[in-house]
Amino acid sequence: MIQTSQINLEKWRQISKDHFSKITPYYDQGRDFEGKQPWMEEINRHTSIGQNDWVLDAGSGTGLLAAQFAGQITGHMLGLEPSRAMLQQALRREQPANLGWLQGISETLPFADSTLKAVFLSQVWHHLLNQDQAGREFFRCLKSGGGLFIKTYSHAQIQARWDLQFIFPELMPLMLSIYPDVPDYELLLKKIGFASVEFQSTSRENFMLPSQILTISRQKAWSMFSYLSEAGIAEGEARLEALVSSGDAPISYPEVHLLVIALK
Ligand SMILES: C[S@@+](CC[C@H](N)C(=O)[O-])C[C@H]1O[C@@H](n2cnc3c(N)ncnc32)[C@H](O)[C@@H]1O
Repeated sequence: MIQTSQINLEKWRQISKDHFSKITPYYDQGRDFEGKQPWMEEINRHTSIGQNDWVLDAGSGTGLLAAQFAGQITGHMLGLEPSRAMLQQALRREQPANLGWLQGISETLPFADSTLKAVFLSQVWHHLLNQDQAGREFFRCLKSGGGLFIKTYSHAQIQARWDLQFIFPELMPLMLSIYPDVPDYELLLKKIGFASVEFQSTSRENFMLPSQILTISRQKAWSMFSYLSEAGIAEGEARLEALVSSGDAPISYPEVHLLVIALK
């Protein structure tokens, strides 16, 4: 079993940079299993977005969430994304008047100090090239009383994942290396200056078919699959193929999230 100390973070950074432009056509399909969660309600509950407020979805990808959020607020919604291919996909969605897009990275934000009411990141934090710098940028651009909302996984949630335990065990140490855990967020965000940092874990019953995971693995729709060795892919896919041929029975695959809420 590979140890977390053997994880090649340079290789992961390269994947984070290049992966999404290659898999754009498959991206949304890889997120189909996620139900609609009330993230915008949670943002509103903490920061009360008004019609003159700006909300940033950093690492907006194909715009899945930014487009949904825009319909739920009277203020302005912006999606920031480095990959041109992902942005082009986002532009194919219906475009409400209060939604805009920017190409860029979280580590250097093109906003004046204290201009954003909320910043949201969904499964982006572990891709950031420099989490400390991005955290400082979010802090700088947020208004006092504004909030940073990070949707991610805790280590306990990663450790409980069926696919990482039984199908692609080579990926478990990667995931534990690249995802910070609850105390890491608390330490970093308090050091940056956020006045409060709190955490919400959610879990919703969900099932997946082995054939669905096999498709996601073959398309590399989840970035972690780009890290796997050839042997790791072959072994994992052989395990999934055996389950598919023996009836493709649904596997319990709870939809879990950790929401980090940091208020300025
Ligand atoms: C797993 S996807 C999540 C996309 C979207 N937030 C969602 O939930 O569907 C991660 C996204 O982060 C983007 N990303 C990678 N590095 C970034 C950075 N430094 N700043 C902002 N976004 C980044 C990637 O291009 C990719 O679109």
